[in-house]
Amino acid sequence: MPGAASVPLLHVPRTPPLHVHSPGRVNLIGDHTDYTGGLVFPMAIDRGIDLIFRTVEGHIEARSDAEAGVVRFDLPMTMPGSVEPRWGRYIAAVAYLLGTATGFEGELTSTIPSGAGLSSSAALEVAAALALGHLGPPAELATFCREAEHVASGVPCGIMDQLSIAAGVAGSALMIDCTTLAVTPVALPDGVDVVVKFVAHRTLAGSEYADRVAECAAAEASIGTLATATVRDLVAIDDPLVRRRARHVITENQRVREFAGALAAGNLALAGALMVDSHHSLATDFSTSNAVMDAAVADWATRPGIYGARMTGGGFGGCIVALADRGAVDPADGWIVRPSAGARYL
Ligand code: GLA
Repeated sequence: MPGAASVPLLHVPRTPPLHVHSPGRVNLIGDHTDYTGGLVFPMAIDRGIDLIFRTVEGHIEARSDAEAGVVRFDLPMTMPGSVEPRWGRYIAAVAYLLGTATGFEGELTSTIPSGAGLSSSAALEVAAALALGHLGPPAELATFCREAEHVASGVPCGIMDQLSIAAGVAGSALMIDCTTLAVTPVALPDGVDVVVKFVAHRTLAGSEYADRVAECAAAEASIGTLATATVRDLVAIDDPLVRRRARHVITENQRVREFAGALAAGNLALAGALMVDSHHSLATDFSTSNAVMDAAVADWATRPGIYGARMTGGGFGGCIVALADRGAVDPADGWIVRPSAGARYL
């Protein structure tokens, strides 16, 4: 149907001020698999960023209750990397890639601290993209916002954060195939809590994330795409470090498949054991954990009522996530997060 692609898929109210909500995300299992087209299992959560704004011509002005300073720049944006304060670069990168001359003046409020590994930057990109009129389907919106993240931070991230935020479904985690971008909602069983605990500040912009991306590319240069490789292929990788990185990715993709099956069958003991295995693989083969994160996971994974725990997201600090019987974790000890709908106009 001619013109169908430009039909807005989201409800956009007409009376200002306008209100966009963009959730954070937590990943239950499947980390460092997205940038090789593998499987991930995140969910959008009931914490996020709200942007209340009025559309204006020729500039963007934004304040945040979570960040210092006022972001103000003229449009069209040409140099997003020079915007100060730095948190404004995520908005600037979106404006730059859209090439828009229509901006907004708005206030942001956030319930996802930055540096915690719950994708505050991706939530901000998606909120800005919706406010600036990118109303395409979730996979398009996420692909666009992933590019904005690359421009704003220089971190060569995968698609998981932006796609889980754009495509969130209330009550369900999302199994995502990062080659096809197919999103399969998987309902969380009744009586289960997903609990997140902030452990240590994270610096993903450090070079280590990019090092892992490069190491996975080196593995793929030897044995082809990791998304379809098996552990039998690993012997063909000469470099022991690259072989370990590839082993994490190959086994992690398999754990995501098994986790989806375990949840569907209500086998929470197996799901929890897979989470612990995933953490171990990230800590040893992929070297994205640290002693504080390992200790937090070991503590939580052995508590009564907790099925399993692991680091979540990029690593090098951030949060751990656990699957627990409802009420087993004291809310003072971690955030109980609920699977939520994706970014949208309210
Ligand atoms: C960060 C990136 C994601 C993904 C995770 C690790 O959150 O932004 O693309 O690679 O790390 O799974």
